[in-house]
Amino acid sequence: MSDHTSAASFFGDMYPYRNRFPSNARFPEKGRDQEEVYKELLSMSGEENQKWETGQCSGTMYHGGKPHYAFLSKVFSLFSFVNLLQRDLCPSGTKFEAEIVSMTAKMLNGDAARQLNEQDEVCGVVTSGGSESIYNGVYVHREWAREEKGITQPEMVVPITIHPAFDKSAHYLGIKIIHVPVKQNFEADVDAMRKAITPNTIMVCGSAGCYPYGVVDPLRELSDLAVEFKIGMHVDGCLGGFILPWVEKIGYDVPLFDFRLPGVTTMSCDTHKYGYGLKGTSVVLLRNRKLRRYMFFSKADWPGGVYASPTVQGSRSGGLSAATWAAMVTLGESGYLEAARRIMDTSNKMRDGIAQIPEIQIMGKSTFLIALTSDVVDIYHVNDYLASKGWRMNGCQNPPGFHFCITLPQTEPGIAEQFIEDLKAGVEYAKNPPSPMPMSGAIYGLSASADGKEMLKQGMMAWVEATYEM
Ligand SMILES: Cc1ncc(COP(=O)(O)O)c(C=O)c1O
Repeated sequence: MSDHTSAASFFGDMYPYRNRFPSNARFPEKGRDQEEVYKELLSMSGEENQKWETGQCSGTMYHGGKPHYAFLSKVFSLFSFVNLLQRDLCPSGTKFEAEIVSMTAKMLNGDAARQLNEQDEVCGVVTSGGSESIYNGVYVHREWAREEKGITQPEMVVPITIHPAFDKSAHYLGIKIIHVPVKQNFEADVDAMRKAITPNTIMVCGSAGCYPYGVVDPLRELSDLAVEFKIGMHVDGCLGGFILPWVEKIGYDVPLFDFRLPGVTTMSCDTHKYGYGLKGTSVVLLRNRKLRRYMFFSKADWPGGVYASPTVQGSRSGGLSAATWAAMVTLGESGYLEAARRIMDTSNKMRDGIAQIPEIQIMGKSTFLIALTSDVVDIYHVNDYLASKGWRMNGCQNPPGFHFCITLPQTEPGIAEQFIEDLKAGVEYAKNPPSPMPMSGAIYGLSASADGKEMLKQGMMAWVEATYEM
């Protein structure tokens, strides 16, 4: 076992197949039998599906319906080998992606942008996921600010709850990212963000809703700020973009978060989350075509011919866009509304149950996601107990907590009730735990000091490295 793999053992068993199936450090000398290989894969996928099929997994599996996934896979297989860079061979890709973008823009009130300013027309691009949508949103602002404002030392201002994809984008793009603490209600502190704006600020960012707590930041105020300072504003709707519009439509109080706000210049919204598509697609929307042009790249004098592409990706499969498009048109508005209804009913049921547990508090005002903390027991002990019962929550820190992002698998009968029962038992367990250090808190404890934080950063890098071990 290498150093990498021993470092990884800290994070759990990453190699359950090591001694069960042949490892391929090099090509098998002779190609293997398809049936035999398929049988191996079937066994891996069967085992892995058991981890979420019980409905006990937060987020990740947004739809979870076997017939839905089977249909999307069937569609995927029709176009899986097609390269979307070569549209002469697959004009269907143009239809799928233009319609995915248009449906998404409509859902997020793109028409309002036109009404506010007739030069605006919300447009977009299909990307590989939330991080790429965010990267592109940040990238166009950097290019825009350099071109139109001469800013060469760009800065962006974000609440600390913003997704790390913004930090990653800033890192790749040479942008200084300024993190501003959130208010007690876990929402962005717009006054504090205002104070962080400098002449080099290219954009402010907020979430709808943020990953840790699911809250929607005060985006109306943030939009006013963007308009006042004539800077850009990215709304991260990766998580909430495909559910909040429907939650709003069925009558819940959802703050304005989309193109109805005049300051919003770009938005990320993930089709591979609550859009119920296959993993590997997302949409980045832009307020106008001029902004989108900053994203595009073309080269006219390459010996290999002329070249143009919308994003960092070059060749990519047509299957994912076809499957995403198929998910959107087969669900339709009625499907998304029904899904939102079921998810909110489940969320409400869980909230009612949590209200009966005095040791547990919900962090922030959210809808489809519930973040929990406690000032009575160590919440990580509660999480340990839940994990022992098969639940897979997402850990949070500063303050300690975990969240349950509710998706369709949790809307099956009895899941919400079982969660509340196990949560209550988890609180009792945490009052008298078998060992003082909770398993799920060990990692977060490290990030409390500068040295620990550095150790954790290095440990996480070792984990990434270990994902390439066999
Ligand atoms: C709010 C938010 N933004 C961005 C992302 C990043 O998306 P992806 O993992 O698809 O790159 C996520 C993922 O969970 C998210 O919840």
